[in-house]
Amino acid sequence: MNRIISALLFLPLGIIFVCEGGNPCCSQPCLNRGVCTAMGSEDYECDCTRTGFYGHNCTQPEFLTWIKVCLKPTPNTVHYLLTNYKAFWNIINSISFLRDAIMRYVLTSRSHLIDSPPTFNADYNYKSWEAYSNLSYYTRTLPPLPKDCPTPMGVVGKIELPDAKMLAEKLLIRRKFIPDPQGSSLMFAFFAQHFTHQFFKSDQKMGPAFTKAKGHGVDLGHIYGENLERQHKLRLFKDGKLKFQVLDGEVYPPTVKEVGADMHYPPHVPESHRFAVGHEAFGLVPGLMMYATIWLREHNRVCDVLKEVHPDWDDDRLFQTSRLILIGETIKIVIEDYVQHLSGYNFKLKFDPELLFKERFQYQNRISSEFNTLYHWHPLMPDAFHIQEQVYSYPQFVFNTSVVTTHGISNLVESFTKQIAGRVAGGRNVPPAVMMVALKSIENSRQMRYQSLNAYRKRFSMKPYASFEDLTGEKEMAAELEEMYGHVDAVELYPGLLVEKPRTNAIFGETMVEMGAPYSLKGLMGNPICSPEYWKPSTFGGSVGFDIINTASLQRLVCSNVKGPCPVASFHVPDVEDNRSNTINSSTAQSGSNDVNPTVLLKERTTEL
Ligand code: HEM
Ligand SMILES: *[C@@H]1O[C@H](CO)[C@@H](O)[C@H](O)[C@H]1NC(C)=O
Ligand SMILES: *[C@@H]1O[C@H](CO)[C@@H](O)[C@H](O)[C@H]1NC(C)=O
Ligand SMILES: *[C@@H]1O[C@H](CO)[C@@H](O)[C@H](O)[C@H]1NC(C)=O
Ligand SMILES: *[C@@H]1O[C@H](CO)[C@@H](O)[C@H](O)[C@H]1NC(C)=O
Ligand SMILES: *[C@@H]1O[C@H](CO)[C@@H](O)[C@H](O)[C@H]1NC(C)=O
Repeated sequence: MNRIISALLFLPLGIIFVCEGGNPCCSQPCLNRGVCTAMGSEDYECDCTRTGFYGHNCTQPEFLTWIKVCLKPTPNTVHYLLTNYKAFWNIINSISFLRDAIMRYVLTSRSHLIDSPPTFNADYNYKSWEAYSNLSYYTRTLPPLPKDCPTPMGVVGKIELPDAKMLAEKLLIRRKFIPDPQGSSLMFAFFAQHFTHQFFKSDQKMGPAFTKAKGHGVDLGHIYGENLERQHKLRLFKDGKLKFQVLDGEVYPPTVKEVGADMHYPPHVPESHRFAVGHEAFGLVPGLMMYATIWLREHNRVCDVLKEVHPDWDDDRLFQTSRLILIGETIKIVIEDYVQHLSGYNFKLKFDPELLFKERFQYQNRISSEFNTLYHWHPLMPDAFHIQEQVYSYPQFVFNTSVVTTHGISNLVESFTKQIAGRVAGGRNVPPAVMMVALKSIENSRQMRYQSLNAYRKRFSMKPYASFEDLTGEKEMAAELEEMYGHVDAVELYPGLLVEKPRTNAIFGETMVEMGAPYSLKGLMGNPICSPEYWKPSTFGGSVGFDIINTASLQRLVCSNVKGPCPVASFHVPDVEDNRSNTINSSTAQSGSNDVNPTVLLKERTTEL
């Protein structure tokens, strides 16, 4: 602004230059992950070191790179191969050295897209010790846009970004429930929310660029608390266990009053129903409290198993070892059940840290802000929640922990497994009740100066979209987008991910998967328990503990922790392909959400989370 004013006053001809130029890195001239450094206001330098490219803009491939680029199939081709040819994959899956080789390739090719050690953050678009060492920040995969650019997204697009509310209303909000064609269940949706909130825990006081989860990965802070003080409040200090209470003969988390660990509950929730667990916000939905209860039971169960083998171990050793075992179980379930389901692959994924022992791989992880943003999968949420014979609208469901005790874990698992989740990509599927969260994502992304969807596509080895129709795969939303953004290179990351054309019969489009998978696998395999010195039976109390990890599954987790007959627990609703009844049911339930006042509901919650 100042520069424009001074240009106006002293150098009329300069206006054109300032408006079109700005910081020369605004046009993102360095391709193939080359690093742009502005040299004054007119020139820039691209550092192409080790990119495999050279030239002023890092566009010229070295010979080996050229061969690799020629041979490399596109992500969509690879995806097509992996999600088809079931008979072929069944053979591969049963030949262990082939399965191992492919799994190793999946892990290395994905995780090599993540910079490790991490580089930038919201306040540093160049490398610095502060950005590296300050764990209060989420890291950034692409540096924030320079502040002095001609347009909000660099040099292309309109002078102003579209109004966030209008954008959300036109393109993001749900008209009619669109079920996930991959058949994800609410059991899946709540697992996603529960699992990821251990490392996506934005610091409301500091702002969206900061996190309270300093473990930056799978540390189970959502079960044990984000710091030692909270952990101690939740621990029983006997036999390694966590505090609990028994209601109707079943184990549940203790109350806030009993343990003194703060939780976020609105005033109307009675004391007796204020459960205390690791994550302060898990009273938000019964789906989260269900998983919190299951994991609490699992921890105490594992303590019993360990004590049986090691009667001489003190409380702390039982606690610490159980925590490591639960971390292992979590990673096993995430890779072999959760990611397996999400990927739709006919190739059978495998959790085996040994696959990486001979590879170049860093056992460390830092959570990216962009990973958090892309994981805002609120379209998964249905219009209403069907539990046993009851239907809960959002106001009845949110912050209602009595849903958990009224139905019990077993019935919740059964009902959540049966109900289908919504499709995430393809546009217009965010439930009105959580529209404020989508708005917030847009606003936060702008505040943090995210680069465009197409910039991220390039960063993760995808071809940038050439047109709006290329992005959405249809005409209507493409036209709306064009009017709002002017140029496809100016489309923002989060709205782009939600309106992107889904892959054939899939929940997501290409960008969500090709960006999300690297973050996810790096975070899972970068865990210290996957490193050579940790990954051995003695770390987990011997073969008994090691076996618990290596045989873990969602179904087992549930069955080990409910009384009586064990319900089917699955991330996939039963036979959805040839049965559309779920679909019809969910959409007829839409009236349930019409009486929700989104603003009131969310104002309450935005301050709570
Ligand atoms: C009824 C269900 C849900 C409600 C009411 C809800 C509500 C919220 C709210 C109020 C926020 C904070 C927004 C802000 O102030 O920035 C939030 C954040 C978030 N939600 Fe949800 N959500 C729900 C389900 C889900 C599901 C199923 C996922 C799946 C992954 C999810 C992923 C996230 C993520 C990743 C964040 C960011 C967390 C952070 O940065 O701390 N949510 N949600
Ligand atoms: C580098 O990119 C800029 C714009 O992005 C372009 O004007 C210039 O011609 C390119 N230089 C070379 C050598 O390709
Ligand atoms: C991290 O950065 C924030 C913002 O500059 C600052 O307030 C905080 O004290 C830093 N934390 C550490 C541990 O240096
Ligand atoms: C919470 O759930 C319980 C148990 O199903 C139900 O009786 C109650 O009406 C719900 N509370 C609200 C505020 O809807
Ligand atoms: C679909 O499933 C329901 C039960 O969930 C069953 O009653 C119905 O017969 C099934 N329809 C078809 C076409 O398979
Ligand atoms: C679908 O709705 C009908 C009534 O509209 C109900 O009888 C049936 O149990 C529902 N099925 C499922 C799978 O929720």
